[in-house]
Amino acid sequence: MSQTKRSKKKPATGPRFAIAIMAAGKGTRLKSKLPKVLHEVGGKPLLAHVIAAAARVVPANDIVAIIGHEAGKVRDATAASGIRYAVQSEQRGTGHALMVAREALAGYDHVIVLSGDAPLITPETIRQLRDFHLAQRSAMTLLTADLQNPTGYGRVVRKSARGPEVRAIVEEKAASATQKKIREINAGFYAFSVPDLYAFIGKLTTGNAHGEYYLTDMAAALGSAGKKVVAWKTPSADEVLGGNTRAELADIDSRIRWAKCQSVMESGVTVFGPETSIIDADVEVGTDTIIEPFVQLLGKTRIGGDCRIRSYSVIKDSQLADGVLVRPGCIMDGAKVAAGAMIGPYSHLRPGSDIGEGGHIGNFVETKQTKMGKGSKANHLAYLGDAEIGAGVNVGAGTITCNFDGINKHKTVIEDGVFVGSDSTLVAPVKLGSGSYVGAASCITDDVPADSLAIGRARQIVKEGWVRQRRKK
Ligand code: UD1
Ligand code: CA
Repeated sequence: MSQTKRSKKKPATGPRFAIAIMAAGKGTRLKSKLPKVLHEVGGKPLLAHVIAAAARVVPANDIVAIIGHEAGKVRDATAASGIRYAVQSEQRGTGHALMVAREALAGYDHVIVLSGDAPLITPETIRQLRDFHLAQRSAMTLLTADLQNPTGYGRVVRKSARGPEVRAIVEEKAASATQKKIREINAGFYAFSVPDLYAFIGKLTTGNAHGEYYLTDMAAALGSAGKKVVAWKTPSADEVLGGNTRAELADIDSRIRWAKCQSVMESGVTVFGPETSIIDADVEVGTDTIIEPFVQLLGKTRIGGDCRIRSYSVIKDSQLADGVLVRPGCIMDGAKVAAGAMIGPYSHLRPGSDIGEGGHIGNFVETKQTKMGKGSKANHLAYLGDAEIGAGVNVGAGTITCNFDGINKHKTVIEDGVFVGSDSTLVAPVKLGSGSYVGAASCITDDVPADSLAIGRARQIVKEGWVRQRRKK
């Protein structure tokens, strides 16, 4: 009440809209331990997609997710969005879901109802549904679509073929042979006048195939009370697809992947074999970069222009500057790579890896919390962890930073221009001064001063004629 009074002070505030997202169902058809709305498509949970679309239409605080099955998990997975929740502890149908949301929706004029398992819905379509609902001044407006194969969906029975008014929604299981031929389906998205919804929701009954309260029955309930129920048919039928089965999840996932690849290509990136590559929604790629088949770019990854990402590389939450070459089979997670660097094949850049301009990280090299300066190279078979490596350093094949003593991690510092001979072990904490050399196969336990040579290995012994003697025995 007080909110209504306060809003009167503001000039021309429109009707108050909330968005309710039904997300309490178990998802029996998925045969899963995980609640349905947490199954992932396009790199994030179904529900996260729906929340993201809703949050572009109303503020997060006006979004209510109706959760129930594994409510704690669903809440944890989406809490960062700042939305509100209503708990439907027993899932007695989509109509019942709206019954439990009554309190959360008090004070709103209208509510748009979305399905937590239909992630392709766009903000544009939600807005069109809202605008049509307002223009029609209806009590209930449902989003519909013509589907080539309407099997499984509720069918829309219009009052007349030409008008927007709807007589009823008939669920698949209750549909007659003639009704089953109707290709216009109920998408499961609605706009309701909140007072009308709650004035008549008590009319719903459980006399149906599932013994549930169907929200779809509100069409007939409101209609017989003389309230206006209309349908708005979307031309983008793909947006209504729901992920009820694993096959439907795979289909939705590939649609999202394909759309992202398309937009990346449109922005000037070459993607060879786009149906094989996975690029998450938030990934950015600069122009004239070439992405070869079977590449995964995940999370918050940003790739510069003129890069080449060769096949079988999986790059997550990493930043690559311009002109970086990633050879086949690299794994990166939380890494930073400066311009013109060459990585791989088969390199593993773990969190905190920071490779300088023009640097080389070669095959079977693993880095973690390691900064490499400009032009430094580790071309073969090395482990570099907790290291600070300057510019122009050459790390020989098989070099290992022994950074862990079983309890604590220690740091290795390698200054500019150092040459580390092959198969050296650097026992941290240790520092190699600028311009110093480490002889091959050394075990370095003490700091090496600048411009010095350190050799830490047993001297070679040669026993001349030893083999000949042995043969005689
Ligand atoms: C529903 C519609 C159907 C429509 C289809 C579109 C009903 C009765 N039928 O069928 O007309 O064509 O969507 O996809 O509404 N949920 C709850 N609480 C419950 C039950 C379900 O929150 O008690 C949630 C589910 O988690 C899901 C959504 O509501 O996100 C829809 O439920 P679902 O069981 O998938 O309905 P459909 O059988 O797909
Ligand atoms: Ca569904």
